[in-house]
Amino acid sequence: MASTAYSRPTKPPGPAAGDRRGPRLAKELGKIEPKKLGIGLVAGCCLALLTYLSFARLFAIYSPVFDSSSLVLKNAPPATEALPLQQKTEVEDQKDFLEPEAEPNIIPELPETTTTTNEKDDTAMNSGRGGAYREAKITCDENGVDEGFPYARPPVCELAGDIRISPMEKIMYFVNPSGDGPFDANGEKKIRPFARKDDFLLPGVVQVTIKSVSSGAAAPQCKRRHDVPVVVFSVAGYTDNFFHDNTDVLIPLFLTTAHLNGEVQFLITNFKPWWVHKFTPLLKKLSNYDVVNFDKEEEVHCFRAGHLGMYRDRDLIISPNPTRNPRNYSMVDYNRFLRRALALPRDAPAVLGEETGSKPKMLIIERKGTRKLLNLREVSALCEELGFAVTVAEAGVDVRGFAEQVNAADVLLAVHGAGLTNQIFLPTGAVLVQIVPWGKMDWMATNFYGQPARDMRLRYVEYYVSEEETTLKDKYPRDHYVFKDPIHIHAQGWPAIAEIIMKQDVMVNMTRFKPFLLQALDELQQ
Ligand SMILES: *[C@@H]1O[C@H](CO)[C@@H](O)[C@H](O)[C@H]1NC(C)=O
Ligand SMILES: *[C@@H]1O[C@H](CO)[C@@H](O)[C@H](O)[C@H]1NC(C)=O
Repeated sequence: MASTAYSRPTKPPGPAAGDRRGPRLAKELGKIEPKKLGIGLVAGCCLALLTYLSFARLFAIYSPVFDSSSLVLKNAPPATEALPLQQKTEVEDQKDFLEPEAEPNIIPELPETTTTTNEKDDTAMNSGRGGAYREAKITCDENGVDEGFPYARPPVCELAGDIRISPMEKIMYFVNPSGDGPFDANGEKKIRPFARKDDFLLPGVVQVTIKSVSSGAAAPQCKRRHDVPVVVFSVAGYTDNFFHDNTDVLIPLFLTTAHLNGEVQFLITNFKPWWVHKFTPLLKKLSNYDVVNFDKEEEVHCFRAGHLGMYRDRDLIISPNPTRNPRNYSMVDYNRFLRRALALPRDAPAVLGEETGSKPKMLIIERKGTRKLLNLREVSALCEELGFAVTVAEAGVDVRGFAEQVNAADVLLAVHGAGLTNQIFLPTGAVLVQIVPWGKMDWMATNFYGQPARDMRLRYVEYYVSEEETTLKDKYPRDHYVFKDPIHIHAQGWPAIAEIIMKQDVMVNMTRFKPFLLQALDELQQ
């Protein structure tokens, strides 16, 4: 059993027990709590599925991108409104999301100087700095298998030495006199630097070749030299689904570069201007230099260290790891990073009873396509009645604007879907309420949103709808396997899940749901 399950963060300074306004519900909740599967059962369920499905297909099935399947592989920008670029001035200390014990960088033998230069000659590079040029070094992490999770991690290579990137040729020349390294017979290593190993997507990701050459003479001349390391990565794929923006780009980028304190240059392939624009405040927090569009760049850029690809762990779950996450960043660190980058004010939720008359704020994220909460108004009215100040909103393209709205909330409530990813902006200790639709969705509910909430030290409440509360009851008879044996839907693969599970709407039974709202209120007073 995960030790973090249902654990609570350290008690915030708050009122004494006697000040609590809401009812204590422990006993009552004991009776009506939703089914909580132990990790063993979840794993068992997962294994059972794996007997039917390949890893790749299972990934395809369990990708939350299906929240917006019309957006899959879409490269066109969403309807955008202008998003103000973040200024360089930071409200808080730039370094405060870093582990104090972190060394300046992990890249071997990175020079002390960290100013970017754009020298037009590369004499220094070619002359090997008096023959004392750094030893070439390359390590690739290609052990992508994640035991216990149904999809693999992407390959990523870390290089140090004389690196010359020729975007026009999509080649990273690597001056490597020994020829040692994970190269093929041609001295090449090809990688699609996208942080999700997904067979369906990868053909669309620009392939970059690391080419091992015996001397600088065999590589193009440097046009632009950088004294900071480089990260070459792709923003292809499911980006523009907020879950994937985070899991496939932003968190991997955070894991790979947060310790560099902005002293890193990004070269982005499958460049989507609107995407880069949308996430500029976060990119600027991670890198002090303007991003380079790898797809259009004509000049040869030279570096002494860098990565092709990014480290990634599980979606919104990151764990200590000697190569992927040597600084043991946690999701709490990621939250802190986001708050600094977006200037979000709240690190902790309001403590009830501290200020008289202050109501806990609840944000309900509305879904308008699939998995609608049909009685949203009724739910919202009950929440108001219970003492919440309720806001209903839909996430849009203004990341900072919506992040502010989420950060202002003490409780975030939504039906299962990518909108729940917005929990990353909640203050630590706030409450997440996930309404899980019908159809044996335990694995997805837990791994995409429930465990991440616990890892972010949020209080987590989950509500599993019954067969009475789903519109599936209007489509299928009660003796259908949809109700009798819903795991059978999963075993049939994505088309069945998409058609049946993902398209239902829910209408929660207020009698049944109310105790969960009271639990949310109660959690805030702990
Ligand atoms: C990261 O965690 C591992 C154990 O999980 C520990 O051995 C290691 O020292 C930690 N590293 C840092 C930098 O805290
Ligand atoms: C709502 O839930 C309560 C408690 O479980 C139950 O008694 C009641 O029959 C349900 N109402 C409907 C309309 O299903």
